[in-house]
Amino acid sequence: MKKMGNHNSILKKLYFCLALMLVFSATSSAQDAAIPAADVAAAATPAATGGDPVKGKELFNANCAACHKLDAKSTGPALRGVASKYEMSWIYKWVHNSSELIKSGDAAAVKVFEENNKVVMTAFPQLSEGDIDNIIAYTSTPKEEAPVVAGAPVTGTEGATSQDGLSNNVVLGALVLVMLMLVAMLFLVNNVLRKVAKANNIEVAPKEPKISIWKAFVKNQFLVLVSVIFLLLVGAYLVYGFLMQVGVDQEYAPIQPIHYSHKIHAGDNEINCKYCHSAARVSKNAGIPSLNVCMNCHKNISEVAESTATPEYSKAFYDEQIQKLYTAVGWDKTTQSYTGKTQPVKWVRIHNLPDFVYFNHSQHVTVAGIECQTCHGPVEEYEIQKQFAPLTMGWCIDCHRKTDVKMEGNEYYTKIHEQLSKKYGVDKLTAAQMGGLECGKCHY
Ligand code: HEC
Ligand code: HEC
Ligand code: HEC
Ligand code: HEC
Ligand code: HEC
Ligand code: HEC
Repeated sequence: MKKMGNHNSILKKLYFCLALMLVFSATSSAQDAAIPAADVAAAATPAATGGDPVKGKELFNANCAACHKLDAKSTGPALRGVASKYEMSWIYKWVHNSSELIKSGDAAAVKVFEENNKVVMTAFPQLSEGDIDNIIAYTSTPKEEAPVVAGAPVTGTEGATSQDGLSNNVVLGALVLVMLMLVAMLFLVNNVLRKVAKANNIEVAPKEPKISIWKAFVKNQFLVLVSVIFLLLVGAYLVYGFLMQVGVDQEYAPIQPIHYSHKIHAGDNEINCKYCHSAARVSKNAGIPSLNVCMNCHKNISEVAESTATPEYSKAFYDEQIQKLYTAVGWDKTTQSYTGKTQPVKWVRIHNLPDFVYFNHSQHVTVAGIECQTCHGPVEEYEIQKQFAPLTMGWCIDCHRKTDVKMEGNEYYTKIHEQLSKKYGVDKLTAAQMGGLECGKCHY
């Protein structure tokens, strides 16, 4: 308590600096918080149309989505804002039976028919005019607006992120406020104590001569010895740890030229690994699929569903990735044809064993029947592909020691199995007992 007097001026300056810093951070975070709040308010403008866009969306998805998209040409033209092109009475007739309208010689109908390579649109006599009103109301919703599901929270990513930001900022602001109050209180207490000391004429004691801890330590030889041994051990441990991880790239997850999500493909859409990595069954390498394989599906999938978007990755982001694929294969989605201008996609290789190691996929996938996930982890959950296993020699050997070879139904093994199981006196054989530890099997 008495020493306080010595530090007073330094303490005062420190408090002042801290308080200043906190005030600044508080005002700047308050500004951050204010902007998204305004954004959220501005985004919520409802569409003013006759029909019900929510029912319209259901009808659209059930009847029209096979050939129409809102914003892009598919088999039929993009339908957003189509109400401004035609009278409603014309649209009723068109949807009920477009061929009849074309045959009747209606100029607008003939024109749109010819513009779309004379593809005949299905007739929908079963849809009432009210149904069509609803569909048209849905096609008239403005583009940026997030899907409005009655009562449900806004699913658009922009809304979600700005709301997250808002709550974070509020929490931050509150914390800053509490800190500020604490600082102010400390400052006041310090002041009061100083005044009390002065009023009571308490002398500030002179500094006592300190015994240097360092000198005391150097004098004690036993302590020095123990410390040196301790430091050497820690050092050796750290160096060993460092050397062991040289060349081990577990968890390596590079940014790929196209953000390709295994979670969306192999997880959500349950596409089999071997559909794309077909070589894994029959050859040494699993291989990366050619872009033609992608186009088997992506001729028709030019954008992702609203529900695919996450707070981290927006629909716009995913759509841009698919556009990158189109640019690479030279696909023009408006004319639905190849332009002939291609450019390669340079995927970054993730798994890479040293050249002196021989690893064969078909041996493990087809013969041993090991699931991809045993070595590559839960790939169907990866938004970004990464290296799951360490790929060290210890990792290979460990599994060869633990895993039994699948003998049933494999004639190749029948005779070897008889001999070896006698030799080892066991019924089952591990890969190691089959020779999976011989250096030459894995090393050239
Ligand atoms: C089998 C595919 C197919 C289905 C299903 C389909 N359409 Fe069409 N639609 C077309 C094609 C193709 C055109 C272009 C005109 C043509 O070639 O007949 C078109 C044109 C239109 C047009 C004129 C667009 C313009 O910009 O001129 C409207 C409106 C329309 N469709 C509404 C609908 C509605 C509403 C539904 C669902 C109830 C629907 N379509 C279902 C294929 C389809
Ligand atoms: C629709 C095609 C497709 C499907 C299905 C698919 N992949 Fe892939 N895979 C790719 C593409 C493209 C890459 C390269 C880009 C990347 O690394 O993300 C890749 C990369 C990989 C890699 C990393 C390759 C490297 O560079 O070392 C592994 C491992 C992998 N996939 C395993 C799997 C597994 C396991 C499954 C099944 C659960 C699977 N994949 C399903 C297309 C596919
Ligand atoms: C068997 C069908 C199929 C194949 C093959 C396929 N995709 Fe997809 N792809 C889809 C589906 C389905 C979606 C998700 C659509 C949605 O969510 O609405 C998708 C979404 C995407 C997306 C956006 C989401 C993301 O992953 O970033 C990209 C980019 C993409 N695919 C690229 C590719 C590439 C590159 C290939 C070839 C290596 C490929 N796809 C092969 C069906 C396929
Ligand atoms: C026994 C473990 C193991 C299993 C099972 C396995 N992999 Fe691999 N995978 C590896 C190793 C090790 C590498 C690195 C190979 C190299 O660098 O030569 C690799 C590399 C890859 C690669 C990168 C490039 C290439 O062509 O080799 C892909 C893609 C891949 N695996 C996909 C798969 C798929 C799909 C399956 C399931 C059908 C699968 N793997 C099963 C261990 C395994
Ligand atoms: C998940 C367990 C597992 C992992 C990990 C694994 N293997 Fe294997 N491996 C097996 C099994 C099981 C067999 C026996 C296949 C058979 O012949 O039936 C095998 C067989 C082999 C063979 C053939 C052995 C022989 O007797 O002909 C080679 C070579 C091999 N593995 C190399 C590797 C290398 C290199 C790695 C590491 C990069 C590795 N393996 C990782 C399970 C594994
Ligand atoms: C099951 C497969 C397998 C067998 C059997 C095997 N190795 Fe390896 N070995 C590997 C792999 C995989 C690596 C690469 C490890 C890495 O990159 O970290 C490796 C690396 C090495 C290295 C380089 C040092 C290092 O750790 O990177 C040496 C030396 C080596 N092995 C010697 C041997 C000898 C000697 C034998 C026989 C007693 C043997 N290996 C048996 C798979 C095997």
